[in-house]
Amino acid sequence: MSLRSVIATASRAAGRRAFTTSAARRSDNLMMHRDSAHNNASLPFAWTEESKKEIEKTVAKYPPQYKKAAVMPVLDIAQRQNGGWVSLAAMNEVARTLDMPPMRVYEVASFYTMYNREPVGKYFVQLCTTTPCVLGGCGSDKILEAIEKHLGIKAGQSTKDKQFTFIEVECLGACSNAPMMQINDDYFEDLTPETTVKVLEQLARGEKPKVGPQSSRLGAENSAGLTTLTSKPYGPGDHCIPEFQ
Ligand code: FES
Repeated sequence: MSLRSVIATASRAAGRRAFTTSAARRSDNLMMHRDSAHNNASLPFAWTEESKKEIEKTVAKYPPQYKKAAVMPVLDIAQRQNGGWVSLAAMNEVARTLDMPPMRVYEVASFYTMYNREPVGKYFVQLCTTTPCVLGGCGSDKILEAIEKHLGIKAGQSTKDKQFTFIEVECLGACSNAPMMQINDDYFEDLTPETTVKVLEQLARGEKPKVGPQSSRLGAENSAGLTTLTSKPYGPGDHCIPEFQ
């Protein structure tokens, strides 16, 4: 039995969730490419006219001799065109476009976690389970449970209809609105199990859910109201609290 299994068994026995419940990913899944029917170099990938325009604009931001510096945004363009993931053929096309060795593109795409090298669902749900999100609000454990129960999948899996892919991720930089998740390009914050399910249901119906805090907060302000600057500050200069102006 591996150390990981021993820790998971002991945590379950103690009524606690293990540090991560994501499906274990073998290192070759993470770093290595293995040819498959849906992902191999012989499959076609060609830029759409829209992507070509985007690439032209992006590459123009860099000196001509440093075209390859645009590898990250161009990989992003490839990922968006390819339905949320970068195939081997797409990475090869990025290399060809930027006149760089394909290996250099693979290195970037396999290093940064925002590039998916396997297909993902139409809605890519990334739940933050780093400490502030575990401790903030109702806690990300409850959100994880709600997502898994609602979608009928575990973290690291996709629904059969390919609508949703769900993974656990590290801090997404919105800790003051914990717990939170990112779905495609949008953040959903101050989550409860109920609001999480509501967002997923709206997406499944093809509706656009409200993004940002799912509470009464507008942003990351204190939900208990002002705790500082509660009286008119003395000069010099202006201040920006509307009730004192
Ligand atoms: S810990 Fe979750 S957004 Fe930072």
